[in-house]
Amino acid sequence: MENNGPLKEALAATSAAVERVLDPILSVPDGPEGRVIEAMRYSLFSGGKRLRPFLVLASAELFGVDRSQALRVAAAIECIHCYSLVHDDLPAMDDDDMRRGKPTVHKAFDEATAILAGDALQSLAFEVLASDETHSDPYVRLNLVREMARASGHHGMVGGQMIDLTAGQHEMDETFIHRLQQMKTGALISFAAEAGAIMGHASKAARASIHGYARDLGLAFQIADDLLDVEGSEDEVGKAVGKDEEAGKATLVTLMGVERARSQARMLSDQAIEHLATFDDKASLLRAVAHFAINRRA
Ligand code: IPE
Ligand code: IPE
Ligand code: MG
Ligand code: MG
Ligand code: MG
Repeated sequence: MENNGPLKEALAATSAAVERVLDPILSVPDGPEGRVIEAMRYSLFSGGKRLRPFLVLASAELFGVDRSQALRVAAAIECIHCYSLVHDDLPAMDDDDMRRGKPTVHKAFDEATAILAGDALQSLAFEVLASDETHSDPYVRLNLVREMARASGHHGMVGGQMIDLTAGQHEMDETFIHRLQQMKTGALISFAAEAGAIMGHASKAARASIHGYARDLGLAFQIADDLLDVEGSEDEVGKAVGKDEEAGKATLVTLMGVERARSQARMLSDQAIEHLATFDDKASLLRAVAHFAINRRA
C-alpha cells in the first residue's frame, strides 16, 4: 500500500481549484431566479471527494495539457456529477435526506427547485465545456461536448439510472449488474479520465490504456459505494446507509455477498493499475486513486 498523503493533497487542491473556477460563474442575482443559483451553489460547494475533477487533472498532466484549461473540464464534469446526485436524491428516485453530511437539495430548498437546479447544472456543464477558454481547437471542444453528452445521457449515466430504478424488479445476473454500473457510474468516470487524452491529442494506444484503466476503476468505485451502503456508517459516508437492501436494489453485494464483492473490487483495482504500465511514474497518483477507490470510508 502506498503513502496516501500526496493523493489527499491532490484531491484537496483539486477541490479548491474547481471551486475557484465555478464561484465567479455562479454569482447570485437579485431577482427571484437567484433561488435556483443558490441551490446550484449549495450542491456544488458542499464537499465531495472531487474524484472526477481529479481524474481530469491527472490525465491532463499525463498528456501535457494546460492546467487552467483542464480545470474548466474538471468543473464541467463536477457540475454533471452534482446534477446527477441532486436528481438521484429526489423522492421520485432514491428519496434521500442527507448528502455529503448535509440535507439534500430538495430538503434544504424544495423539490421543484432541486429539479431546476439539476437541470441548470447540466446546462452549465455544457456551456463551460463549449466556451473558447476551454480549448483553442474547436474540434477538441466539440469532441469533449459529444463525449460528455454520451457519458451523461441515455447511453451512460441516465440510462444506468433508469436500469437502476428497475433493479430488484426482476432477476439480474453479474453481467447485467456490471452493465448497469458501467452506465450509471463508469461512463462519467471514464470520460473524466479520457478528457485529458482528448485535450492532449493522445495517441490511440495511450487513449486505450487510459480507457481500460477508467473502465475498471469506475466498476471498482461503484462496488465500493455498494459495500459502504452495507458496511459504512451515515456519519462517515455523509449519506444514509442500508438503502440498497431496503429498496431491494440488485448490486454486486446483494448478488454475491460482501466478501466476493470486495475481492472483485480488489481485482478490478489491480487490473486498472495494470493498464497504466506504459506510463511509469507519471501515473503514480492515478495508481493511488485505484487503491483509494476501494479502500475509502466515504
Ligand atoms: C456518489 O459519488 C455516487 C456514485 C456514483 C457512487 P461520489 O462517491 O463520487 O460522491 P461525492 O462527490 O464524493 O459526494
Ligand atoms: C447513484 O448511485 C449514481 C448516480 C449516477 C448519481 P447511488 O444511488 O448508489 O449513489 P448514492 O449512494 O446515492 O451516492
Ligand atoms: Mg441511486
Ligand atoms: Mg442514491
Ligand atoms: Mg449508493
